[in-house]
Formats: sequence, structure tokens, C-alpha cells
Amino acid sequence: MHRLLLLLLFSPLAAQAGETNPVRGDPAAIALGAQVFQANCARCHGEQATGPSAEAPDLRRLNAFCQPLKDGALQARCLQDVDSYFMMAVTTGKVRAGIVYMPPWRDVLTAGEIWAVRSFIESRPLAAPRLKTSVDIDHAAH
Ligand code: HEC
Repeated sequence: MHRLLLLLLFSPLAAQAGETNPVRGDPAAIALGAQVFQANCARCHGEQATGPSAEAPDLRRLNAFCQPLKDGALQARCLQDVDSYFMMAVTTGKVRAGIVYMPPWRDVLTAGEIWAVRSFIESRPLAAPRLKTSVDIDHAAH
């Protein structure tokens, strides 16, 4: 199994978390999330969550470790961990060494709106898989 996935699933942080998106796959939430995303997130994370953006990460990639999991329970647990991370990242923002990469959204959006955005992003077509790294290519050669 992927080492990062193991970290994600079994880290003490992940164990303490445990908030699950209550509106995953809900059409009304996806419609609301599309509007909230367009108004607040698109300018940095790309139009419709699929447009290219030099500004901020492609948020569809957050589920990349979970998508290939065949065990349904493990996949649910994986998605739950990403849900918790998503909620934390969005509410608290991304600030490192005094530089604001993303502002916190806790005073701007409700939890319901944030979950709706998560549902919207999951409804978007998947990102193309990452290109192989030079390390992968080197491993394959040996
Ligand atoms: C001002 C630009 C900007 C806006 C607006 C913005 N973000 Fe971000 N966001 C960023 C940047 C830049 C990062 C990467 C920060 C870092 O380097 O850690 C980020 C990171 C994230 C992450 C963590 C991604 C990861 O790969 O770890 C999530 C989740 C996220 N944003 C969600 C949102 C949502 C939802 C909205 C709208 C409510 C939003 N962002 C609006 C710039 C923005």
C-alpha cells in the first residue's frame, strides 16, 4: 500500500478527526457547492474545479489515494480522513511563516456550505493521473 495512504489512515491526527461529509453525492448540495465554489474558490483553484490554476492545488487530487481502493470500508475511511482534512484546511486557511496562502473561511462560509463545496468537487470529472516521476522511471528500469 502507498506509504502516504498508510500515514493518512493510521496517524493519530486522523484517528482524532472523523468528521464525514454528511451530503456526499447529494444533488442539492452539489448545486449549492457549485455556486459557493464559483464565488469563493474558483479564482485560485480553477474554474469549475477543473480549470488549470497556477495559483492553488487542484482539489480533485485530494481523493487520489482513496479512489483506487477496492475495499469499500477502507475507501470510506480514507474519504472520511480527507473530509476531515478538507474541513480543517478550509476553516483555518493556509498560513505559514506569516504568509497567507489561503485565507481562513470559518467566518465566511457555514459548515454546510463547505461540505457542499466538497460534494461539488467530488462530482467533477477526475483529474488526469500524475505523470510518473523520475524515481518511478528509475525503479521500473531495475
Ligand atoms: C487566494 C487564493 C485562494 C482562494 C480564494 C482559495 N484557496 Fe484554497 N488554497 C490556496 C492555496 C495557495 C493553497 C495551497 C496552500 C499551501 O501551499 O499549503 C490552498 C489550499 C487549499 C486546500 C488544501 C489542498 C491540499 O492539497 O492540501 C483546500 C482543501 C482548499 N484550499 C480549499 C479551498 C476552498 C474550498 C476554497 C473556497 C471556499 C478555497 N480553497 C479558496 C489558495 C486559495
